Amino acid sequence: MKKLSLVLLVLLVAGSVFAGGGKEGGGGGPLIGIAMPETHVLRWIKDGNQLKAEAEKRGYTAQVQWANADQVTQNFQVQSFLTQGAKAIVIGCITDGIAPVVAEAAKDGVVVVAYDRIISNSADYDYYITFNNFKVGVLQAQSIVAGLDLDKATTAAPKNITLFAGSATDGNAFFFFDGAMSILNPYIDKGVLKVVGPYPKTSADRANFQRIATENWQAPIAKTRMENLLNNDARNVTLDAVLAPNDTLARAIIEALKADAKYRTKLPVISGQDAEFASAMSIKNGEQYSTVFKDTAKLAEAAILLIDQVLKGQPVNIPGAVLASGDLLSIGNTGRKTVKAYLLDPILVTKSNLNVPVNANFFTAEEAAQLK
Ligand code: BGC
Repeated sequence: MKKLSLVLLVLLVAGSVFAGGGKEGGGGGPLIGIAMPETHVLRWIKDGNQLKAEAEKRGYTAQVQWANADQVTQNFQVQSFLTQGAKAIVIGCITDGIAPVVAEAAKDGVVVVAYDRIISNSADYDYYITFNNFKVGVLQAQSIVAGLDLDKATTAAPKNITLFAGSATDGNAFFFFDGAMSILNPYIDKGVLKVVGPYPKTSADRANFQRIATENWQAPIAKTRMENLLNNDARNVTLDAVLAPNDTLARAIIEALKADAKYRTKLPVISGQDAEFASAMSIKNGEQYSTVFKDTAKLAEAAILLIDQVLKGQPVNIPGAVLASGDLLSIGNTGRKTVKAYLLDPILVTKSNLNVPVNANFFTAEEAAQLK
């Protein structure tokens, strides 16, 4: 017990430093703890800072922590928020290993909001704010259909695609993949699109899904897998497309492809997600084909508004988000209960509409200037 308190104390102090002053940085009101999963995918740095700024704007005290894709670390961070008396906690989790800490929070009457990623295997929270993750996958695949002109492809000259998925510990990865396959499967069934390497028709084929999944969304894992494919299953074919689940992995895949003489002058059509600056530049330069823009500033704003309404006992009403219903109800299914899932809309971005994230002020001024 003593050991645990010491660990908590160390994390608490470290947390204050990370948060740039902890309590001092706050608006003086109740504490909102913000637990972000990782920093190797850049969006989460922005997400954490934006959540903190939004909380402070509404008069709350806020602290943010990033967990380096390690659930044990995140559990300590969230426990430290609870020890400090947080009234609400925003969690972008790593795995469902966060569930016991969410149960502790519920016992203390703390409001937990699952942020972007669902907290699976928990019945101890009520709210989830995210994007329409199925649609993210649909958009990725639609860009591949357009990029390959698949509607004109023939069985005599089918196109070749290889499939990548995100981390199997992240509920989103399943929705992204299933959304994408809902668009690609009809072309595969028709014989105008051929899958090179493992082909899970949906994420329900867990064995094959695991083969294409990328643990913790780590770029080096995707790069190595692409290199292996190039030396094995894809050795005697030319890939026309790669389904990449996000920008970080898309760029790792591109690196592997560029090292192969076959792709030096012409890369396959490659999807992405997050509208990371490096990928936006890659799209501008004709390498990565598409990305999916999710306005995370709006997500952060919506998450804090949701907390504010719940803490004040007001009805939840989030402009720009729809409460999941019908087919989309599954987005809020934790496996133990269906939480209220508020969904924002993702937008497909290719070379022709790079101005969309630019005009939404998604990039810094210097970045925006380079994208012009
Ligand atoms: C997020 C993506 C992100 C990925 C890796 C997913 O849960 O929705 O935006 O690229 O995690 O961090």
